[in-house]
Amino acid sequence: MDNPGIVLLGAGGHAKVVIEAFRAAGETVASCVGGPSDPQSLLDVPVIPDEAELPALRASGLSRAFVAIGSNRLREKLGAKLESLGFELVSIIHPRACVSPSVRIGRGVVIMAGSVVNASAVIGDLAIINTGATVDHDCVIGRCVHVAPQCALAGCVSVGDRAMLGVGAKVIPGITIGADATVGAGSVVVRNVNDAALVMGVPARVRDGGRTR
Ligand SMILES: CC(C)(COP(=O)(O)OP(=O)(O)OC[C@H]1O[C@@H](n2cnc3c(N)ncnc32)[C@H](O)[C@@H]1OP(=O)(O)O)[C@@H](O)C(=O)NCCC(=O)NCCS
Repeated sequence: MDNPGIVLLGAGGHAKVVIEAFRAAGETVASCVGGPSDPQSLLDVPVIPDEAELPALRASGLSRAFVAIGSNRLREKLGAKLESLGFELVSIIHPRACVSPSVRIGRGVVIMAGSVVNASAVIGDLAIINTGATVDHDCVIGRCVHVAPQCALAGCVSVGDRAMLGVGAKVIPGITIGADATVGAGSVVVRNVNDAALVMGVPARVRDGGRTR
């Protein structure tokens, strides 16, 4: 097999957008792997309703995989599972994203259409840079982070592993956002955010003293 296609873990809305990003880049998604309540196919990709089939898919010659699941913790767990089964985690940059050549990108990352990632940024394994987000120069985005659609991170922002920045959140330059933190949709972050904290609003403030997801 010259180009045997990609195995996608996940069969929900995020998986649809990921399938179309792979297609836009000239790649083929061979199968989705979902659960029993998922549809039988997603955008004409067959959905296998049981993760127990992953070893058989690997044995059939499919070696490249991607985790298309929005939950940061679940994505981390399933990424490790895929690698333990011998799959290579591939990354996808939508052809209509604008990514500087000096950016370093980990494994299993998606950079969606309309997003911009500027000079010397670092994007960790299994991160999602979602539609229309901007990640400016020298930002460091940790593992399994989700930067939701239309977020804007100014230069030198650091985001810890598994943090979630809700749709449209803005972050001023030089801020550190802790691991497992959540930034509410539309918030403007002007102070550092502790690990596992939940912040929201303009300016963003801790709402309930933080929580762990
Ligand atoms: C911040 C967030 C995580 C809070 O969720 P939650 O803990 O379930 O909060 P609730 O909906 O119970 O709201 C609790 C309070 O916070 C307020 N609130 C919720 N989200 C807010 C936000 N983004 N900014 C400001 N206030 C917010 C609510 O109005 C409510 O206020 P009240 O107590 O005065 O009525 C969630 O609202 C959010 O913004 N999620 C981002 C989702 C997203 O963008 N996903 C990306 C998908 S691609």
